[in-house]
Amino acid sequence: MTTPSLSFPLDRTTTPVPDADREQILANPGFGKTFTDHMAVATWTADAGWHDDAVRPYGPFQLDPAAAVLHYGQEVFEGLKAFRHADGSVWSFRPEANAERMQRSARRLALPELPAEDFLESVRALVSADEVWVPAAGSGETSLYLRPFMFASEPFLGVRPAREVTYAVIASPAGAYFSGGLEPVTLWISTDYARAGAGGTGAAKCGGNYASSLAGQLEGIENGCDQAVFLDSETHEYIEELGGMNLFLVYRDGRLVTPELTGSILEGVTRSSILRLATELGLTPEERRIPIQEWKDAAESGELAEVFACGTAAVITPVGELRWNGGSVNHRTAATDDKVALSIRNQLLDIQYGRAEDPHGWMTRL
Ligand code: COI
Repeated sequence: MTTPSLSFPLDRTTTPVPDADREQILANPGFGKTFTDHMAVATWTADAGWHDDAVRPYGPFQLDPAAAVLHYGQEVFEGLKAFRHADGSVWSFRPEANAERMQRSARRLALPELPAEDFLESVRALVSADEVWVPAAGSGETSLYLRPFMFASEPFLGVRPAREVTYAVIASPAGAYFSGGLEPVTLWISTDYARAGAGGTGAAKCGGNYASSLAGQLEGIENGCDQAVFLDSETHEYIEELGGMNLFLVYRDGRLVTPELTGSILEGVTRSSILRLATELGLTPEERRIPIQEWKDAAESGELAEVFACGTAAVITPVGELRWNGGSVNHRTAATDDKVALSIRNQLLDIQYGRAEDPHGWMTRL
């Protein structure tokens, strides 16, 4: 990777959260509720490119009410984590994959591409300023969740790509994403709503995809479920993903099946890592279109052993029941107990926390 052109110098004027308060937060961080002392920022303008990079005190942006993002949603984001290893060092998992995906997302949303080395530098600079916020090794599965994002900050109401864009990285200490921890979640098949369509922004990590998943998720909650699973928008027959996580089906014959990337599914970093780990764990990975009927039939016949969802924030979450308007199936029996999901989860976490070899070279020291 080439030398970054941005250096994100540290503005030391912050008033940090007192040590005792920070320790209390780190003891039980939950997800996405509290933020560290600093944030990394940079500005892009059409005439000057990237500039005004800094790590400055965490705090509100001053945003013009006409900023294009508030009207047309021109925004992309990323999610990755910093992990503390037993020797005190701090690492992140495949950050270059996040940098590259952010560039792809930016292209789709007509935003400027931040060079991967500058993305990495922003993450490094923020984690170095806020290192005390990275939970101690051995404190359960806690980490520092990093959220890089970029939005159209130009005040202009015409519909065209913004000529001024703000990039930022914030950090939030994180424990389990779901309050139930590893309790299997129940999914609702959303048929009224699709998350994304052909030619749309489904493969980009942009706020609009998450906003469009919320009505389906609400429908799921109203029907006693935790999350919604979205089907393809054209036929409503094939599984795509949850609002913010990819899905895997585990068959008793050892097949590990996940929806192929059709252009309307997010290319998850955890998803692609699981596909790489699968063969090492004796599983046969398959990426293909999966009819929702196949899930129902395989659950009924007993061929389906497990289903799990995955993403950076929640890592791997077992799925129990599948419900829809007029029916439900539950493939779980006491005998299966999410063995495969939990062993892949442990394998990933062991690599991330430095407890296992990293044969794929996935970890980067920050
Ligand atoms: C992540 O898993 O990092 C995401 O961005 C998804 C979001 C639901 C937290």
